[in-house]
Amino acid sequence: MNVKHCIKVDDFNKNEILDLFELAAELKAKYRNKESYTPFKDHSMAMIFAKPSARTRVSFETGFAWMGGHAIYLAPQDIGLGTRESASDLAQLFSRYNDMIMARVFSHKDMLDFEKHATVPVINGLTDYNHPCQILTDIFSIWEKKKDNFENLKIVYVGDGNNIVNSWIRLAAILPFEFTCVCPQGFEPDADTISFARSKDISTINILHDPIEGVQDADVIYTDVWASMGQKEEIEERIKIFSPLQVNEELINHAKDDYMFMHCLPAERGREVTDGVIDSENSIVFEQAENRLHTQNAIMVSLADKA
Ligand code: CP
Ligand code: NVA
Repeated sequence: MNVKHCIKVDDFNKNEILDLFELAAELKAKYRNKESYTPFKDHSMAMIFAKPSARTRVSFETGFAWMGGHAIYLAPQDIGLGTRESASDLAQLFSRYNDMIMARVFSHKDMLDFEKHATVPVINGLTDYNHPCQILTDIFSIWEKKKDNFENLKIVYVGDGNNIVNSWIRLAAILPFEFTCVCPQGFEPDADTISFARSKDISTINILHDPIEGVQDADVIYTDVWASMGQKEEIEERIKIFSPLQVNEELINHAKDDYMFMHCLPAERGREVTDGVIDSENSIVFEQAENRLHTQNAIMVSLADKA
C-alpha cells in the first residue's frame, strides 16, 4: 500500500511544498472566516504524546475538529510507549481504529517504526532528531511575508544545533536559501544531515560560532531554547555555554532593518531571547505559532489526499 507520511520535511518535494503553501493560505482564510469545511467527517486521529506540548496538541486537535474529525489525545502515561507497548504494535493497532496517527516521541527510531508499521498516514509532531511540522510552518510564515522575493533569503539560527536545526537543514536540501547555524563548539547539528543537504547543492549551509558574524544582513533570525525537552536538567551548565549567543537588542543591530525574528516557542524569555526582541515589531512569533494550525491542516488534507 502506498501511504504518504510526514516524518521529515523532505517527504515533500519542492512543488509539493509550494502547493502546501497555497493550500495552507486557502485554509487559513476559510478558518478565519469561520467557513464550514469538513473533509474529515467520520474520521478520527490518534495523537500520541510522549513529551509535553501546547501548540502541537491544541493546533492538531483544533484543526482536525474544525475539519469535521475527532482527534484523540493520548498522554505519556496512557500509552507507555516503549515500556507498556512498542511503537510497531501501536502503529498496527491505531491503523485499524483511526484514519491518521500523529506522534511526538523522544527517539526518532520510534517514529520510523510508526512509519514502517502504520497503514494510515503518520505525522511527526517532534522527535529528538527533527520537527517537520514546525519548519514547514516556519517557511510558510516566511513565504506569506516575502512571496515576491522568497528564494535565497538569509536565514540565521542562533542557539543549540537541535531538532529544529536538523529540520531547517533538511529543508535546505529542497528549497534554495542561505542557512547559517550559529552554535557553541560541540553543539552542532547532526553531521550526516549537513552532508546530505550539502550534497544536494541547493542551498548554502554555514555552521559558525560567532553570533555577530552569523547575523550580518540576516533576513530572519531564529532561536530556540538552549535545553530541549529531555535535557532540562542540563540547563544551568548550558546557560554558561550559551549566554554569548543570546538574541538581544545589541545582536539584532547586525541584521537587516526589516529582519524577522522567529522562535518555535515555548520561549525561555531572558535566556535565549530578550523581551525587547521577542516583543518587538520585527517579531512574528505568534503569527508563526498561529500558522501551525493552518499548515498542519494543509498537511493532513494533502496526506489524506482530500485536497
Ligand atoms: N513549537 C511547538 O512544537 O510547541 P509545543 O511544544 O508547545 O507543541
Ligand atoms: N527544541 C525544542 C523544541 C520545542 C518545540 C525541544 O525539543 O524541546
